[in-house]
Amino acid sequence: MALTNAGTNSPDSQAKGAPAQPEERELDPGTGPHNGEGRTPDSSVSELVSQRPSTAEIYDRLTKMRHLLMTREFGLQEILTKIDILRSEFQYGHNYNPIEHVSSRVKSLDSIVDKARRKGIPFTAEDIGANLLDIAGIRLTCSFVSDTYTMRDLLLSQTDLTLLRERDYIADPKDNGYQSLHLVIEVPVFLAGGPEKVPVEIQLRTVAMDFWASLEHKIHYKDDTEVPRHLTDALKLAADMSAALDDSMERIHNEILELHKEAEAEAPSGGGTTRIHHPLSENPIPDGESRELLRAILDSFDRRPPQR
Ligand code: GTP
Ligand code: MG
Repeated sequence: MALTNAGTNSPDSQAKGAPAQPEERELDPGTGPHNGEGRTPDSSVSELVSQRPSTAEIYDRLTKMRHLLMTREFGLQEILTKIDILRSEFQYGHNYNPIEHVSSRVKSLDSIVDKARRKGIPFTAEDIGANLLDIAGIRLTCSFVSDTYTMRDLLLSQTDLTLLRERDYIADPKDNGYQSLHLVIEVPVFLAGGPEKVPVEIQLRTVAMDFWASLEHKIHYKDDTEVPRHLTDALKLAADMSAALDDSMERIHNEILELHKEAEAEAPSGGGTTRIHHPLSENPIPDGESRELLRAILDSFDRRPPQR
């Protein structure tokens, strides 16, 4: 179709002197060789008229773009539900919650246009859909480093999810000190017209990593201003310190778990059992359990058919 290259009307392609596509002028009337430089006036006018996208074509593009954003929103909801279920299951079964908080967003249209321009991606739903894998994004802030990997493994073990890309900036931090585990996961969304696979970016990190990244982002991520060396060094040092903090918090956590285990092993059987925090151990019946529920369960034992 005639409109597929409108996105090449980026500052980059212009700067490199790449020929602007005629249709770009229609979608972005503020740029492009309007004066028809290098052409005879007649040919430029007739070209413009003949290659002008019809309203139907523009509408078609808009519809596809809306559909793309809609599916990204649905993909996001699918993964958020999965995370919510895992979180609740942890709380029910292990009395432990590895997730501190979850945030999510569908990239705004402005950011999509911006990134597509920056990366030279043509502005069609097909190209954007295939190349911008972080339109749907989730940030999962976990308590400990091991929790980020646990959550990763639990998500990836779900058979309907496919890992498209993984960048482990925890094992291999960026030069500036940035740490996080980035996954791009494909999830099917079931629409009236059939299933569609949607990429969702998930960033997993600890509270300390999140704290560092949020502030570093405010300070200079993607900012063109040159940051003096002593400040980038200071940021890197702060990242190292927050990694050390993560290490020691996890060590303390593990030692406390060990203490709980020892206490439980030493407790006289039957009475005074300590509830182990994590991972799941033999479950004593918690105090707050409903009497009615327990009574119904006890009754059901009495009514069980005899075991063969
Ligand atoms: P983007 O074009 O930003 O999406 O980067 P990318 O496609 O090369 O992917 P990458 O996995 O490296 O980074 C994706 C996202 O991680 C970014 O959009 C940020 O949210 C975050 N991120 C990556 N590097 C940094 C960093 O150095 N500092 C901070 N604060 N965030 C970062
Ligand atoms: Mg991104």
